[in-house]
Amino acid sequence: MHQDIVKVLYSKEEIEAHVRKMGAQIAKDYQGEDLILVAVLRGAVMFLADLARAIDGPIEMDFMAVSSYGSSAKSSGVVRIIKDLDTDIKGRNVLIAEDIVDSGLTLKYLLKNLASRQPKSLEVASLLIKEGVQQVNIDCKYPGLVVPNEFVVGYGLDYGERYRNLPYVGILDSTVYKK
Ligand code: PRP
Repeated sequence: MHQDIVKVLYSKEEIEAHVRKMGAQIAKDYQGEDLILVAVLRGAVMFLADLARAIDGPIEMDFMAVSSYGSSAKSSGVVRIIKDLDTDIKGRNVLIAEDIVDSGLTLKYLLKNLASRQPKSLEVASLLIKEGVQQVNIDCKYPGLVVPNEFVVGYGLDYGERYRNLPYVGILDSTVYKK
C-alpha cells in the first residue's frame, strides 16, 4: 500500500493539527447552538470521525450516500441519493463534512438539496481542496488543505475502494491506475 504512494502531501500529524484547529473554530462558532455534522459516504468518514472529536460541544452526526448517474455524470453534477439523512434538518444548524472538493459539483447538488429542507444554517467544512479544478464556486466556511490536481488517496480517499485507510494523504503512483 505505502509503496504505491509517490509523494506524501500531508502527514498524519499535519492532518491532525488542521482538523484540531478546524474543530476548535467550529466549537467557538456554534457555541450555545445545536449542530448536526453531515458526512457523505464513504470518503468523508475518517474526516467526520476526527472532526467530531475535535469539537468540544454537543453535536449530532448523520450520513448521506450519493451516486453519480453513469461515469460521465460526475462532471455533470447529476447525483442520486442512495441513502438520505435520518434527521429532519428543518430549523437546525447543518455542517457538511466533505473529504475533498474537486469539481465542486457534488457539493453544489448537496447544498441545493439540503437548503430546500429549510435548515437554520448550512455550511461546509472540507478537509481538502483540489487546486484550480472547481467548475462551480463553493462557499466553504471551513476550507481545507490545498492539494494539486493529481490522483490523491488516503485518509478516506480511495482508488478502487483501496487506500482509504492510509493515515496520510498522498499522490498515487500513476502506474497503479494506468495498468
Ligand atoms: C468524492 C468525494 C466527494 C466528491 C468530490 O466522492 O468524497 O464527495 O468525490 O468530487 P466533486 O467535487 O468533483 O463533486 P466519490 O464519488 O469518489 O465517492 P466516495 O466518497 O465513496 O469515495
